[in-house]
Formats: sequence, structure tokens, C-alpha cells
Amino acid sequence: MSLIACKNLKLGYEGEVVAENINFEVNSGDYLCIIGDNGSGKTTLVKTILGLKKPLEGEIVFGEGLSRSDIGYLSQRTDVQKDFPASVMEIVLSGCLSHMKHRFFYSKEEKKLAMDNLEKLGIAHLSKSCFRNLSGGQQQRTLLARALCSTSKILFLDEPVSSLDPEATKDMYKIVNELNKNDGTTIVMISHDIQSVEKYATHILNISDHSTFGTLEEFKKMEESGGNDNG
Ligand SMILES: Nc1ncnc2c1ncn2[C@@H]1O[C@H](COP(=O)(O)OP(=O)(O)OP(=O)(O)O)[C@@H](O)[C@H]1O
Ligand SMILES: [Mg+2]
Repeated sequence: MSLIACKNLKLGYEGEVVAENINFEVNSGDYLCIIGDNGSGKTTLVKTILGLKKPLEGEIVFGEGLSRSDIGYLSQRTDVQKDFPASVMEIVLSGCLSHMKHRFFYSKEEKKLAMDNLEKLGIAHLSKSCFRNLSGGQQQRTLLARALCSTSKILFLDEPVSSLDPEATKDMYKIVNELNKNDGTTIVMISHDIQSVEKYATHILNISDHSTFGTLEEFKKMEESGGNDNG
């Protein structure tokens, strides 16, 4: 059984259809990249899987004991996030909230987990810094460390490198790849960077008028035969 299976999903807002006939599955250890034009519905799809909104039609099935609270989420960058007036540690710790239920303080274990994740991402020295004074790359690492506090099973990353310089982009891809290969974390990443998609992905979901899903090899074959309208 797969971790997540989406069957005949139709997505949209107040009756307005954004994307339909979306079928794919995510298995443990996969590195799935979601591609598609601006406005095609990639972020909407992720929000729907996270339960932040309902699908207009279709089904999302979680398997292997996965529940929504096991999904770590790095959302698409917004200006509100950029100016968040909290310390790096506070932001990373808030990743533990999804598992805290009725508790109002962080446990010793959670504080250690937050510190371990800051170290893993090479920003432990920034733990006391104010988030809004960090560079874009440092902010993305902080938000990834936060997502890692909610899970090591599966991460959803919505355009994690969109505002990063080439060096920080390379670092971010390397970190995510290591999480996938070394820690066995399943990755679902929205990306416009086809070169990197082809370098790292095991599977590709292309959201368009005729959405397609398959392995990287299948995607490349389709591209070669001109059967894919997304670059
Ligand atoms: N809260 C909302 N209410 C109504 N329509 C919305 C809402 N959020 C997004 N949309 C619309 O849904 C469509 C898909 O948006 P979405 O953000 O999912 O696209 P995307 O594929 O992630 O695009 P991008 O590559 O630019 O991030 C767009 O036409 C957008 O205007
Ligand atoms: Mg988006």
C-alpha cells in the first residue's frame, strides 16, 4: 500500500475548477516532483492533501499508518513569513506543535530535536537570531528545520529554492537529497527547475490540462517523443 494515493482529484475554489483528473501515488522513499505552469494548481493540490481545503471531487487515501500530522510542510514563500518577529529556535520548535495536542510547553526531547535539526541544516549558531534578520537561504533552512520537527517520514516542499542564489540553491538540493537518501524521508517537492527535477526526482507529476504521472524514465521518454507540454 502506498503512503498517499490520489484518485481522480478535482481541485478548485468555490466551484471554480483549477485542475482535474489528477491521479498519482507516493510510496515510501520516493522523491516526487510536481511541475506545471504558474496557476496550474500545484499549491492547491498540496493544500488539499494537507487537509487545508477540500477536493471538489475524488479521493485522497493515506496508507502505511500515515496521517496528516505526519507530513512536514514548507510552504511557498510569502512576505508575511519573511518578516516574522520570532527567533530561529522559536520558529523551529513550532514545528512540534502538530504533535502536542493539549500541552502548552515544549518538552526537553522537543528542544533537543529542534537543536539537532538546526545542526543538521548547519544553522545551529543562528538559533537565537531573529528570523527576519536572516538571509533568504538561512530563512529557508530554518523553515526546513521546522518542517523536520513535525516529521522525518514525509516532507512537502513548495518551491523551496525560489528565492535562493545559485549556491544556496545547490545547498538546499543537497540537504533535501541527503534527507531522502540517508534518512529515508519521502520527498514531495513543487519545482519549476526542470534540470534539478531530472537530477533528483524518482517520480514526476505534471499538472496541466492533461495531467501526467510516472517515473522519471517515463517522463523523459514522453519528453523525447514531444508528448509533454511542460518543457
Ligand atoms: N484562496 C484562493 N481562492 C480562490 N482562488 C485561488 C485561491 N488560491 C489560489 N487560487 C487560484 O487557483 C489557481 C491555482 O493556484 P495555485 O496557487 O494552486 O497555483 P500554482 O500551480 O501553485 O502556481 P505557482 O507556480 O504560481 O505557485 C490560480 O488560478 C489561483 O488564482
Ligand atoms: Mg504555487
